[in-house]
Amino acid sequence: MFAKKILCIGAGYVGGPTMAMIAMRCPHYKITVVDINDEKIARWNSNELPIYEPGLDEIVREVRGRNLFFSTDIEGEIRANDIIFVSVNTPTKTYGAGAGMAADLQYWEKTARQIRRCAQSNKVIIEKSTLPVRTALAMERILGAENNIHFEVLSNPEFLAEGSAIEDLQNPDRVLIGSRDTPTGVAARNELVDIFANWVPRERIITSNIWSSELSKLVANAFLAQRISSINAIASLCEKTEADVAEVARAVGLDSRIGTKFLNASVGFGGSCFKKDIMNLVYLCRSYGLNEAADYWEGVIKINECQKERFVLTMLRAMFNTLADKRICLFGFAFKANTGDTRESPAIYIARKLLEEQAVVVITDPKALENARRDLAGMKGEILFIDDPYEAAAASDALAVMTEWDLYKDLDFERIFDSMTKPAFIFDGRNILDRKKLFDMGFNIYAVGKPPMTHFA
Ligand SMILES: NC(=O)c1ccc[n+]([C@@H]2O[C@H](COP(=O)([O-])OP(=O)(O)OC[C@H]3O[C@@H](n4cnc5c(N)ncnc54)[C@H](O)[C@@H]3O)[C@@H](O)[C@H]2O)c1
Repeated sequence: MFAKKILCIGAGYVGGPTMAMIAMRCPHYKITVVDINDEKIARWNSNELPIYEPGLDEIVREVRGRNLFFSTDIEGEIRANDIIFVSVNTPTKTYGAGAGMAADLQYWEKTARQIRRCAQSNKVIIEKSTLPVRTALAMERILGAENNIHFEVLSNPEFLAEGSAIEDLQNPDRVLIGSRDTPTGVAARNELVDIFANWVPRERIITSNIWSSELSKLVANAFLAQRISSINAIASLCEKTEADVAEVARAVGLDSRIGTKFLNASVGFGGSCFKKDIMNLVYLCRSYGLNEAADYWEGVIKINECQKERFVLTMLRAMFNTLADKRICLFGFAFKANTGDTRESPAIYIARKLLEEQAVVVITDPKALENARRDLAGMKGEILFIDDPYEAAAASDALAVMTEWDLYKDLDFERIFDSMTKPAFIFDGRNILDRKKLFDMGFNIYAVGKPPMTHFA
């Protein structure tokens, strides 16, 4: 007999790892994860999980079938569980009012209606998805309509970062739980606090009103993305002035009020969340008439778009203003290291622009080639997908580092240089390579926010 039964609706990058962690840390609870995507559930039940996260395979192998279960019986599981996390996707709307900005809440609302339809007893519904502030009110209204069952809606946004999800879930900086300040709200909140307290120190489990909790998630992502855009804006100035952005970031970051993290200049941020959550914040500000606040946050996105454009322009100018028929190898396609996720990856934009310039694009990545193939399907031009980085780089005119995978730091670049067309170029979009060493080997090297090192007079 299990002490608690918990359901999660949505078996994606958040639902899967989060529930695997609860199952591992709480063997006395039964955790079930459901999804409308049958294929995804089949993969969660197989040896080839639908997502890559360091450490995830091991945990799933340990707990699956013991107290973690993956199923497609959404309605049956809604009836069988009284604590329900909802972790469905909330992408940016692509149609109608707010297209390109507002969150598309259709998946969330369909789930809410399904819960209401199937529920036969009181439930605690936990918003795990990232949602616009005040979504819980809409949820309460949908769930409360024509029903005498009580639904208590809590907000428990997820702060994990892909690539380090297991570590983040195991040892979170904080867990945030927002609730109504009513007797049922407080009781539900305490129940959720007790679940996390199985492994998270109580002082790191913080509670707040439900609106603060919903908004905090959007703000956390906006602040993180803002740091990246701030340093990238400075990188563009460094490139004009022979300052080195890494030296500037170090000097600035050592001020303890500023801090050293998230100050790496790069080709720009990607991922499914930063852009979507900031646009959502911008839309919210505009809808409350707060246009200055909206413009401010929109600037973070503009700098990021500009950073990707600048990267391609640097390549074009460095390679004598034509890329036609040149072979360019992208080192990495995932939006960051240690994940196979390519959603909003800058590499998608860069690959598209290079193809428009009629370059031959070669893509290598240790985990993301399957997603890369899907992202670039139907694009005009010559694209090759090659697992082995040496094979991918051979006969290329240029390498462009798109993802900061450790493996790219330790390659035998002498061997790569010998196999490339000359003059050989490297464009380091993540500032992970040793420029001086590569320059001495004969490469012409361009890194973000640093003076180029070339062998041209
Ligand atoms: N990916 C991240 O790093 C991250 C981090 C924090 C928060 N979030 C937020 O968490 C939420 C989920 O993100 P994700 O990356 O896991 O998305 P995802 O696309 O990987 O997973 C969402 C899953 O929900 C399923 N789904 C959609 N509608 C459904 C329904 N009606 N019934 C059952 N299943 C349904 C989809 O099939 C999909 O498998 C989003 O709101 C996102 O903003 C994501």
